[in-house]
Amino acid sequence: MLVLGIESSCDETAAAVYDGRRLLSSVIASQSDHVDFGGIVPELASRAHEKVIWRTVSQAMSQAGVRSEDIHALAVTEGPGLMGSLLVGLCFAKGLAIQWGKPVIGVNHIDAHIYATFIDEQPRLPFVSLVVSGGHTQIFHVTSPLRHTLMGQTRDDAAGEAFDKIGKLLGLAYPAGPEIDRLARDGDPSFCNFPRAMMKKGLDFSFSGLKTSVLYYLQDIPEPEREQFLIKHRADLCASISAAITDVLIHKLRQAVKKTTVNSVIIAGGVSANTMLRYKAQMLADELGISLHIPHPKYCTDNAAMIAVTGWFKANEGMYDDMRLKPYARYQWDIM
Ligand code: KG4
Ligand code: ZN
Repeated sequence: MLVLGIESSCDETAAAVYDGRRLLSSVIASQSDHVDFGGIVPELASRAHEKVIWRTVSQAMSQAGVRSEDIHALAVTEGPGLMGSLLVGLCFAKGLAIQWGKPVIGVNHIDAHIYATFIDEQPRLPFVSLVVSGGHTQIFHVTSPLRHTLMGQTRDDAAGEAFDKIGKLLGLAYPAGPEIDRLARDGDPSFCNFPRAMMKKGLDFSFSGLKTSVLYYLQDIPEPEREQFLIKHRADLCASISAAITDVLIHKLRQAVKKTTVNSVIIAGGVSANTMLRYKAQMLADELGISLHIPHPKYCTDNAAMIAVTGWFKANEGMYDDMRLKPYARYQWDIM
């Protein structure tokens, strides 16, 4: 049962083919148009998707060595994401589904980040999944494929958003997460003790205070000295900021594991590529005697392989959609 997955929720146009056991292809066209703006420009994103979506899907089909007749269903991201970007993928998938005479399946982008782990391995269920990306920070209790409950989420900025916004304050280009990660490796995490918010308040997160705290910290340095200070201590600040963010993530993960008594943990989404987070998560797993699964970095950031896999799970359970499929901007319950 071959499923073609299509992803266009943010600034990555992607397509992939999955057969239930193996990924046959995965193509990603990333947009570079946003770098000069310090963030994603929605209008530019949807135009760029529109330009490359046909080519991306064709490449995924030819790399997989399959024809339209071989495809069982088309899985497409329905939300959450940028409405214009989602519409490009949805309209394209619907058009192709009509032309090919195949069913269409809407996939929730966050759910797909959770199930990305199944691309390469079979993690033991039930598990706790921490999804940390540019738009989301959520903890789920997953009991079987497609069955999960939300345990906690951010009340303001997502972890990736915190990395990106703080990176901007430090003069780093968007998206700053990978660069902060790289610089942090040479810095001192105890250089500055930035706040760890909501440590005693259940499983929800808050990262906007950290951003404000870094802003005030930098503003307190007299203007003429600030540039020199940043040159000298950028790595230390990156390490201290990474320590603050990852301490909170790991603390909540520990609480979620204790609450659910699961034996496996999964970390997914763009921020799961972070070195300090991976290191601390492995320490936690060793300490608690549980297994840790993190998808391959290429499946941590946005991709269509995770959409194809989640679409395959849905097809396997007969969960098809029709032409009424609509995009949505914010996270909403798809499956429980
Ligand atoms: O999942 P993703 O590709 O897109 C969204 O759905 O948001 O995540 C992108 C986010 C960005 O905020 C980026 O800065 C962050 O993931 N990111 C990282 C790292 N690699 C990507 N943050 C920290 N350390 C990294 N190594
Ligand atoms: Zn994502």
